[in-house]
Amino acid sequence: MSESSDQEVLRLADLRKSYNVGEPTQIEILHGIDLTLRRRDFAALIGPSGSGKSTLLNLIGLLDQPASGELLVLGQATSGLEDSRRTQLRAHTIGFVFQFHHLIEAFTALENVLMPWMVTNGKPDKRMLDWGRSLLDAVGLANSEGKKPRELSGGQQQRVAVARALVTRPALLLADEPTGNLDTRTAEGVFKLFRRFNEEMGCAVLLVTHDPRLAQSCDRVIELVDGRIVRDEVSKAR
Ligand SMILES: Nc1ncnc2c1ncn2[C@@H]1O[C@H](COP(=O)(O)OP(=O)(O)O)[C@@H](O)[C@H]1O
Ligand SMILES: [Mg+2]
Repeated sequence: MSESSDQEVLRLADLRKSYNVGEPTQIEILHGIDLTLRRRDFAALIGPSGSGKSTLLNLIGLLDQPASGELLVLGQATSGLEDSRRTQLRAHTIGFVFQFHHLIEAFTALENVLMPWMVTNGKPDKRMLDWGRSLLDAVGLANSEGKKPRELSGGQQQRVAVARALVTRPALLLADEPTGNLDTRTAEGVFKLFRRFNEEMGCAVLLVTHDPRLAQSCDRVIELVDGRIVRDEVSKAR
């Protein structure tokens, strides 16, 4: 790993988010979030349903814009960025895994994995094909590269989604209830993958989960209640 595990990948400063802006139903959902994540971080984001976890993850993932406050990715402020720069920054630095994997049905497992890279770079060369294959291998799907999503089980599809999230070697991996749809054993397998990539690739992991056991297996637990961070503690010495 060339980057220091201390490197700051994300900083949120007094971040606020409202929905229905300018309408009578306008409502502030996130009320001033401060948070820093470094490369070594392996953190769970927990909190009751409706507390704002997905809203926060969408902001961090540059899929949505805050009402106020600043969000820095790798030290770079994002508030004034043009859309094309935001998209570029997202593509290069952030990997996503959602509860439902959103794989492309017409594409093979390998093509799905390479997709985020192909969006900005076009046709993959030999080096990228090899990298995509090694990721499929790492998630235990070395023999499935030519299979379409419908030929894979739910757990296998989610593992393809994990490999896809890592193909650009992101500094930050975001996962919104990534195992919510999986049985316990498959969920544990996916969780172990996050762990491994955090350690081997040095990508910070922020994982939304409902599962208290999963949260306790992370190194840090951040709890959101009613749009405020009410707890942020290290749960295990590293
Ligand atoms: N697009 C939207 N428009 C209006 N309200 C929304 C929208 N998305 C989420 N909300 C509201 O924001 C609050 C937080 O939602 P969400 O971030 O999905 O919470 P969580 O992921 O913690 O369950 C909820 O009250 C939800 O109803
Ligand atoms: Mg949610």
